[in-house]
Amino acid sequence: MTPSQAVTIQFQPIGKRIQVDPQINLLEAARMAGIALTSTCGGEGNCGQCRVQVISGSVSPFTEAEKFLLSEAEQKESYRLACCTRPMSDVCLHIPPDSLDSGQRLQIESVLRPPVADPLVQTIEVQCPPPTLADSRSDWTRLRDEVARRSGSADIFASSAFIQALPPTIRQLNWRVQVLLRKGEVIGLLPLSSKPLGLAVDLGTTKIAAALLELESGRVLATSGAPNPQISYGEDVVSRLVTIQRNPAGGQKMAELVRQGINELLLDLVKRAAAVPEQVAEACIVGNTAMIHLLLGWPVRQLALAPYVAASSEPLEVFAAALDFRLAPGGRVYIPPAIGGYVGSDHVAMILASELDQSERITLGIDIGTNTEISLRIPGKETLMAVSCASGPAFEGAHIRDGMRAASGAIEKVRFTAQEMQITTIDNEPPIGFCGSGILDAVAELYRNGYLLPNGRFDRHKLAQPEAAEPRFVFVPAEQSGNAREIALTQKDINEIQLAKGAIQAGIKILLEVNQIAPEQVEEVIVAGAFGSYLHLPSAIQIGLFPPLPRARYRQVGNAAAVGAQWMLISKQARKRAEEIARRTRYLELTTLPGFNRQFAVAMHFPPLEEKNETLE
Ligand code: FES
Repeated sequence: MTPSQAVTIQFQPIGKRIQVDPQINLLEAARMAGIALTSTCGGEGNCGQCRVQVISGSVSPFTEAEKFLLSEAEQKESYRLACCTRPMSDVCLHIPPDSLDSGQRLQIESVLRPPVADPLVQTIEVQCPPPTLADSRSDWTRLRDEVARRSGSADIFASSAFIQALPPTIRQLNWRVQVLLRKGEVIGLLPLSSKPLGLAVDLGTTKIAAALLELESGRVLATSGAPNPQISYGEDVVSRLVTIQRNPAGGQKMAELVRQGINELLLDLVKRAAAVPEQVAEACIVGNTAMIHLLLGWPVRQLALAPYVAASSEPLEVFAAALDFRLAPGGRVYIPPAIGGYVGSDHVAMILASELDQSERITLGIDIGTNTEISLRIPGKETLMAVSCASGPAFEGAHIRDGMRAASGAIEKVRFTAQEMQITTIDNEPPIGFCGSGILDAVAELYRNGYLLPNGRFDRHKLAQPEAAEPRFVFVPAEQSGNAREIALTQKDINEIQLAKGAIQAGIKILLEVNQIAPEQVEEVIVAGAFGSYLHLPSAIQIGLFPPLPRARYRQVGNAAAVGAQWMLISKQARKRAEEIARRTRYLELTTLPGFNRQFAVAMHFPPLEEKNETLE
């Protein structure tokens, strides 16, 4: 192959490019670029999973398989099956998240553009003269004088916690140290060869996601996650608050549990990065208002009762030691401001990282979790508006008979074709349950194929066991599953999904109505959160979870709240912007609106099938 024959394929938003022979198809090109597209048929043009969108460049004509497997709308939007398409010039492709193998999906978070690192904590190299009988200044005075000389500032101070750790540390480092300096305060000492680190935490109701970063470069060294240990006190925010009202000692216990959980993640991360906890100069923790109260051990009674008032929604800097976190001796935890009600700093972080606040289009930002926050940005308006919906944990696999978290063997995709039912599991392992995206697909496919009625009831005539006491649709019989149990969706499961989707759908509808925006006027929808990023958009639109807009208007951005926490950790500028976002975002309490209950009841139903056909197929 001469260089002139080769063509360049660019893969967005992953940001990879590769030169290939134009005789190979786009699936092979992706493999050569190290991008694993889902392809259960092995590239035979049968499964329809290797969808890519051609943004620019020319490619081979549609094959018969593509005409069959891609809807007309998809064909119009230049969606192609990678295994059936060859490049005919340089080509730029968009890879939708649901075409990526599970292991590779986290890369979609690269669509968020990180800020230039500009951390609050600075380092200064200092060499102190060791004490002698002629110079018997105290350790702190000796260090402070040296730091003042090197920094040019006379106003240098330290906490008692730092001074307690000073004598052994400075001797161990032989009086030559890197000083961690934060707004004039000396908070820690490091060997010259160590880099200062930071911990970013997204404290979710169900899960805690943590990342360890180099403060000066912003480089992520390691990431980790764990279930929120408070879950034993209730799966959602409200049940945890009720527990504390009944037993105030439960609040202290919950604070201890979550602090311990974060500490364990921290120790795991530093170990994996071959670092030590004392290198971690600062942490940034984001979470909804209730989660932050439960972390700090604040009273929650006023938060649990209307009008749902926080103890404080201002930004906070807390001594890490006061929360029992093992950071540098004077290390701080930065907690960004909250918006209002239960819409907390995690939503501020999501808005920050997705740049929703700077959008020049009418944009909805939806962060799906056990609590779903939705914001609306209208260009030209000074304020954004935000609502919070109690969507519950169904989309995370909880409260669903065969639900599970997104792990190996979880069904993540379901498609019914004229001939068969296709099921894809994470890591292609034998199926053992449904994760959120699989549940959503399964419900959408059941509805699309007439097994479910618009009110969410099964059409019993179509079920294999119409007389069963609990109606259910079996996706995998026991003998074919990975755990010898059948995998099915029951009527109760469908009702749980209806509750979750009804809450989110009603939230979106009311937010738009209050702002006099028709759904079709929405120019962009940013979908964030682990589940939100991997869900199959047509399924979400099919069941009415999202408005029926063209797919090109949707942008799935990964866990933007976790990314926003990282940005606030490494950038003073990002912190300033986050504080501005919180000031400029108005919170709207849904439950007090007169039409909310009616909207919620209506939103529990699935939209008429004809309506979705216009937009989806
Ligand atoms: S890999 Fe199955 S259709 Fe392309």
